[in-house]
Amino acid sequence: MICARDIHKSFGATSVLRGISLELQRGEVVAIIGPSGSGKSTFLRCLNHLETIDSGRITVEGEVLVENDASGQARYVPDAQIRSIGRKMGMVFQSFNLFPHLTVLENIIEAPMLVKKMARAAIVPQAEQLLQKVGLLDKRDAYPNRLSGGQKQRVAIARALAMGPDILLFDEPTSALDPELTGEVLRTMRALAQEHMTMLVVTHEMGFARDVANRVVFMDKGEIVEQAPAQAFFANPQQQRTRAFLHNTL
Ligand SMILES: Nc1ncnc2c1ncn2[C@@H]1O[C@H](COP(=O)(O)OP(=O)(O)O)[C@@H](O)[C@H]1O
Ligand SMILES: [Mg+2]
Repeated sequence: MICARDIHKSFGATSVLRGISLELQRGEVVAIIGPSGSGKSTFLRCLNHLETIDSGRITVEGEVLVENDASGQARYVPDAQIRSIGRKMGMVFQSFNLFPHLTVLENIIEAPMLVKKMARAAIVPQAEQLLQKVGLLDKRDAYPNRLSGGQKQRVAIARALAMGPDILLFDEPTSALDPELTGEVLRTMRALAQEHMTMLVVTHEMGFARDVANRVVFMDKGEIVEQAPAQAFFANPQQQRTRAFLHNTL
């Protein structure tokens, strides 16, 4: 579904991604873990074209988003193609990013109406179904400031799903939540995984990574240090840096 090869990215003199290669298969749930500042968010943002890469190659469902030219510099495909590739992916952020002036329902139908030009009458029933799915149909007409963090994040997930993405990217979806609210968000994500949604999840939730992810990727200092099937990753980490990280977090 996604194939990223040898991705390099610097901010000024700081090299943040130093040759990241990762593949995501259809229906796979991959967790990315690693210390703060290791480049996890930057990597997700590069996949979604919220950041541009310096060099490397990214394809999404076989379509090239960016690849190196003859001089080894990243060259992006034309804007229309970038946008159509971008629509294959939905992203859920740590900070929810809901529109505060729109109700829950309006938050969900906004992008399908604006970007996909869907008729309101067509998207509203779908939005209601998605709200049902995340357990928030009763909040349909509420404004985000009336919701708990966990509820906001479930709305954000419904909003991402409303665009009909093939892949969902999550950047620490529970880190801004009080501990008692993480469970409801993780349950929603677990349900999506059981429906074989393809998901790439940056997370601190080791329990989620172990139980729900098919594969775990450990990043440190802009590199993938180790990746393995989830059970094996936690039972038998191979690299010293991985062991040290797990020792400090578990
Ligand atoms: N827009 C930016 N401009 C400059 N530096 C950035 C920017 N975004 C991230 N960085 C730097 O890149 C590094 C990796 O950040 P990030 O991808 O957010 O790591 P993580 O998500 O693993 O905590 C950090 O050193 C961070 O300060
Ligand atoms: Mg981050």
